[in-house]
Amino acid sequence: MKTNYWSVDKFVDNLENYPQIQQAAHLLAKNEVVAFPTETVYGLGGNAREDQAVEKIFTAKGRPSDNPLIVHIAEQSQLAAFVESISANAQLLMDRFWPGPLTIIFPLKKGFISNRATAGLDTVAVRMPDHPVALAVLKAAGLPIAAPSANRSGKPSPTTASHVKEDLDGRIAGIVDGGPTGVGVESTVIDCTTEIPIILRPGGVTREQLEQVVGEVQVDPALSDEKEAPKSPGMKYRHYAPDAPLYLVEGTKEAIQRHINEQRREGRRVGVLTTKENETYYDADYIFACGERAHLESVASSIYEALRSFNKQDIDVIYSEMFPTEGVGNAIMNRLLKAAGQRVISG
Ligand code: TXA
Ligand code: MG
Repeated sequence: MKTNYWSVDKFVDNLENYPQIQQAAHLLAKNEVVAFPTETVYGLGGNAREDQAVEKIFTAKGRPSDNPLIVHIAEQSQLAAFVESISANAQLLMDRFWPGPLTIIFPLKKGFISNRATAGLDTVAVRMPDHPVALAVLKAAGLPIAAPSANRSGKPSPTTASHVKEDLDGRIAGIVDGGPTGVGVESTVIDCTTEIPIILRPGGVTREQLEQVVGEVQVDPALSDEKEAPKSPGMKYRHYAPDAPLYLVEGTKEAIQRHINEQRREGRRVGVLTTKENETYYDADYIFACGERAHLESVASSIYEALRSFNKQDIDVIYSEMFPTEGVGNAIMNRLLKAAGQRVISG
């Protein structure tokens, strides 16, 4: 399949009138799948109402079919067709964080959304992205759009159109290039079907921000204990992994350098994932400075670019610094631990 490629300027007004967006929307209405930027990562969209469209998303990604998708909408009024009820907490969170990087789990009203999108669950995950291009595509299509991250399953999520191309060129109908995404890690997923809301995936909106709006918020125990079964099906899969093994090092940069030296003595090419503050300290075969440690948002926005970059450098082993689990640091460490297959070594 030839993949259409459209470039749009995210800052122009009335984007939904642009021919590129119209073409993308037209393909979505014909149950084809199209990638577009959101404020978190690029999504691979398909008509959430049609099995045939949702099937194409799973096939293009190589995604396990028991992993449900997030339904993307442009207006809160779209919810009534497929959500059984909206709790007071869910309403407060939508009013405060939508559009934005927060996915809310609602009880599902059956019959409107494809069962393939919800993986047969009796709940549905919904979000309204805060990106002019995503909103323009959603409005022009006039449909609820199921959209997982637009990467091959298991790979780091895409934060530029060229990442999408690397993974999915020839496998999907189109890519809308709206430049690099901002937040860089996926939305926070929160289950609002329980009395006390539960975070199922840490992301762009932090627990502290959520608690300011709805009071106590719990965190799925599976996020900190490997023996617990995650409530969000997607959280059990290995994810985001670069080709070379990645180790997170709990220790000083001197300790990391010792690991590097040891590996290089044995003839291996070593990569390091660090931040601008420590970039010049290391002696290694490839160094990626991922934002600034003093601004964890900047680390989040380039973490997937960092993980992808090692694959192009013919690296045998990667060492990464660790990050404090405050604010968006929680999401960063969650993704790094998955990318590392939970391998943490001490200095
Ligand atoms: O930022 C994002 O959320 C991006 C952009 C493209 O919007 N999308 C994204 O989708 O990250 P995906 O498919 O990569 O992750 C969806 C997550 C998975 O962990 C999935 O298991 C979970 O949401 N999920 C979906 N429906 C659910 C449900 N009904 N109950 C629990 N978890 C659910
Ligand atoms: Mg994903």
